[in-house]
Amino acid sequence: MQILDGNLVSKALKANIKIEVDNLKIQGVKTPHLAAILVGADGASMTYVGAKEKDCKEVGFDSTVLRFDADISENDLLAEIEKINNNDSIDGLIVQLPLPKHINEKKITETINWKKDVDGFHPMNVGLMFKGLPCYLPATPFGIIKLLEYYQIETAGKSCVVIGRSDIVGKPMSILMLQKNCTVTICHSKTKNLTELTQQADIVIAALGIPEFLKKEMVKEGAIVIDVGISRVNDASSAKGYSLKGDVDFANVSPKCSYITPVPGGVGPMTRVGLMLNTLEAVKRK
Ligand code: GUN
Repeated sequence: MQILDGNLVSKALKANIKIEVDNLKIQGVKTPHLAAILVGADGASMTYVGAKEKDCKEVGFDSTVLRFDADISENDLLAEIEKINNNDSIDGLIVQLPLPKHINEKKITETINWKKDVDGFHPMNVGLMFKGLPCYLPATPFGIIKLLEYYQIETAGKSCVVIGRSDIVGKPMSILMLQKNCTVTICHSKTKNLTELTQQADIVIAALGIPEFLKKEMVKEGAIVIDVGISRVNDASSAKGYSLKGDVDFANVSPKCSYITPVPGGVGPMTRVGLMLNTLEAVKRK
């Protein structure tokens, strides 16, 4: 069993991004600049945005975080997005999700200029991805593809089961694995014969958000398992009072696998790299 080490691979890819950024600076081209909008004070969202700021610094990007109270009106938030759309110094914009209930996420996503949509959530980027045309790929599926490529994992002709059908991970992941010539099955909460399907799969991508959902009986010997889940589970033995759990019962599933991602240190760091790659691309396209 080989661990797919997201920390190691993200470090290597970030070092390459840094070299490219340094070259852009030497050539007098612009320094990539990522803006993030954070609404409210959700603990996980604040952590993610903080991590993105740190990543930007590490690879030499400029970064701006715009923080708003949870009661900002939808119209005011839309106006802030328009300001960034029209600000030439900013190359990429992400609005951290989830947003408070009174704000329509679809409207927000569709207001971001798709050329700055480094999250790849705008329908224009989704459509381009669907057709296999140049676009911004959503960061998590993009990061997973980069991880598979780094370890030179053959995907052509393999059966791949994606568990979860979210717009952010499950749906785009299934399209990208199809483009990597897998035979793809998408499973979700209404799937009746889930275990039967995962047992047959050469590659299982678990992205449903239920801690330790994928058990050893559900995977075949030699499977490649990608764990997208990251849930905080109460844990009195931890100083923080919680521990992080993936969607895979790692202790029992990993001995059966040919490759598996750990949580933390697997998909999470690769997601962050996906966003950095998109932001660099935004400048290159200019
Ligand atoms: N919330 C959870 N994942 C994501 C993501 O990839 N991008 C944004 N903007 N918000 C998220």
